[in-house]
Formats: sequence, C-alpha cells, structure tokens
Amino acid sequence: MEVIVGGGIVGLSIAWRLSRAGRAVTVVDPAPASGASHAAAGMLAPVSEVTYTEEPLLRLGAASLRRWPSFAAELAADAGSGVRDTGLGLDLRADGTLDVAFGADDLAALGELAAFMEKLGLRVERLTGRECRRLEPMLAPSVRGGLLAPGDAWVDPRRVTAALLAALERRGVPLVRARVAELLREDGAVRGVRLEPRQGTPSEIRADGVVLAAGAWSGELADVPVRPVKGQIVRLRSTEPLLGRCVRGTVHGTPVYLVPRGDGELVVGATQEELGFDTRVTAGGLYELLRDARELVPGVTELEVAEVEAGLRPGTPDNVPLIGASGTPGLTLATGHHRGGVLLAPLTAAILLGEEAELAPLCSPERHHGPARPDAPRGAT
Ligand code: GLY
Repeated sequence: MEVIVGGGIVGLSIAWRLSRAGRAVTVVDPAPASGASHAAAGMLAPVSEVTYTEEPLLRLGAASLRRWPSFAAELAADAGSGVRDTGLGLDLRADGTLDVAFGADDLAALGELAAFMEKLGLRVERLTGRECRRLEPMLAPSVRGGLLAPGDAWVDPRRVTAALLAALERRGVPLVRARVAELLREDGAVRGVRLEPRQGTPSEIRADGVVLAAGAWSGELADVPVRPVKGQIVRLRSTEPLLGRCVRGTVHGTPVYLVPRGDGELVVGATQEELGFDTRVTAGGLYELLRDARELVPGVTELEVAEVEAGLRPGTPDNVPLIGASGTPGLTLATGHHRGGVLLAPLTAAILLGEEAELAPLCSPERHHGPARPDAPRGAT
C-alpha cells in the first residue's frame, strides 16, 4: 500500500490515477482541497505563462494540457452524478488567453515575447488594440495590442478537487484526515508516516511507499528545496459574464490575470510574495489586484466581491516541480509545482505511473539531490 501525503489537486490526482491502475493507496491530509488548490484560479496556460528561462516548464505544461480533456472526461465519469449534474461539470474551457499591452514599452515587450514563442514553435496571434477589443469588448480603450494564445485553457480547480474526492470515495480509497508529523524512517528508508494525535485516526500508517505531495509544506517533512510563495486572489461575481476568455496583462510592472467562470464568477489574481507561511489577505494586496484589474477591464469595479483568499504556492529554486524518486528508498516526490499545480496535475500522475519517460528527467528530483543517498532530516548537516 502507498500513502499519499497531501490532498490538494496533485495528491488527489495521483491517488485517483494509482487507484485506477489497481494500486492500493491511502491519502492523508487534515483538510483536503483547502490549500493552494482552493485558492487557485485554474489557468491551464503553458503558453501565456512562459518566460524566457523556463523552456522545460513549457514542455511539461504543454504535455499536461494535452492530457487535460481526457483526464477531465474520465474524472467526471468516475466521480458520478454529483459532477455531471452541476451543468458546468469541471468548467474546463479552451478559449485561449489574451495577453494585453498598454504603453509602447509593454507592446514592445509583448512583441519580443511573441518572437520568442514563435521561435519555440508555439501558436500565438499578434493582435492590434482594436482586434483585442473585438474579442473582448469590455477591455479598456487604452489597450494598444495583445497576444492571443488560442490553445490555452482553464478549469475550476474547486470542481476538480470535489470530483477527485467523489471519485476516490466511490473507489473506496481511504482518506485519513490528520496531519503527518513525520515520515517513518528505518534503515535509511521511508516506511510510512507518523500522524499527529487526533481522535479516531491511527498514530502511524506503515506503507510500501510514500508520495510526498504536501505542496508548500513539503519541506517540513523532507529535505526538499520547496518554499511557500504567497498568492492573494479575489473572486468577483457578476450576473453577465464580463469576459469570454482569460485576460492578462502587466500594469505598472506587475502582472495580473482575470479568469472567467461559467457561473459568472471572475477570478482576479494573484500577488506573488515571499513571506513564508503568511496567509493573511492584506489591504495592499487587494488594492493592487483590483487597481490593476480595473486598468485592463474597467467594468470590474461594478462587480460584487464574492471572496478573498491567500494561498501558498510550493516554489522551487528553478520553478520546475520535483516529481519522481527522492533519492531515499520508499519516498517519491510530487511537489514544488509553484504556479502550475492545476495545469501539471495530470502529467504528475502520469509520470509516477511511468507513462512519460521522455519528460520525466526534466522534473526529476535528481537535479537537486544527485544520485540516490539516504535522506537526511531537515536541518541536519
Ligand atoms: N498560475 C497562476 C498563479 O500561480 O498565480
């Protein structure tokens, strides 16, 4: 039996896929689906999120995006009527992302990015300001131009985690609502997990293998280079959809994105702050998000504020996740997904099932720990 530590979108996807493949798994999380997956906007945008130094991440993201339609269809079927009856299903939409520019500098930067993307063979369309507004009439008149990534998509991560939990329940996969205090280590190998005391849960679970999918908290349990990166995010509510696709832009040097949901919600995100395990929603964070969103789409100020939240992304030094053997027998890593946990969840599960031999080396933890060695407790030298 394998224990999956972490019930966010990554841990639950792994558990579901392993269970479908006939493997016995148990998920451990004190509050499943409540961390970064709950805060996330759900952009499946490998193209529009690409940056100059992150080509490996682009390859991983593009491969995972290709997996999303079948992943979502199989999940909706496995989760049963609860998901199908919502009408929106998982709210997976593939209408692309529009990256817009205001000033001449923004436009020049977007032009350079377009050239870089074209060099990588990515499908992008350069648009004038008028063409942008034809696609998205609510855009500000000051938008000077844009870049459409027509293949980018998005999904509602809360619907996905709800469906994963339903599918796991239907498959009889145990979900232990407890916090893992530490990994059980014997003879240089991981043999299970010890749980923090809680009524009704065992004190430890012994296992043939442990998959660490604890997001920003992974570094508390093993010697992995994962740190929390705070993201504040706002959910607005409208009766009529304001946008037809994801819109993003850089305002006053800060990136902002707006993600429309099928039910009229508009998600505006997200700050990127290096503040440790701080999940406070601040006046400054909200102010900047709404100020920048208004520059892109002035109509957002008319919308009702439905929810504000801060989540913690699991960042790594190179922004690429750690997926695969940890170097310690019995411990597999599936963490460090930073800005791409929702996008990369299907690929992560596939890699752990051995389905992506060509891509797996790109995110192998070996790049940090080197060849196999006994694991050291955090802080040890
Ligand atoms: N993927 C978007 C974010 O992390 O804010």
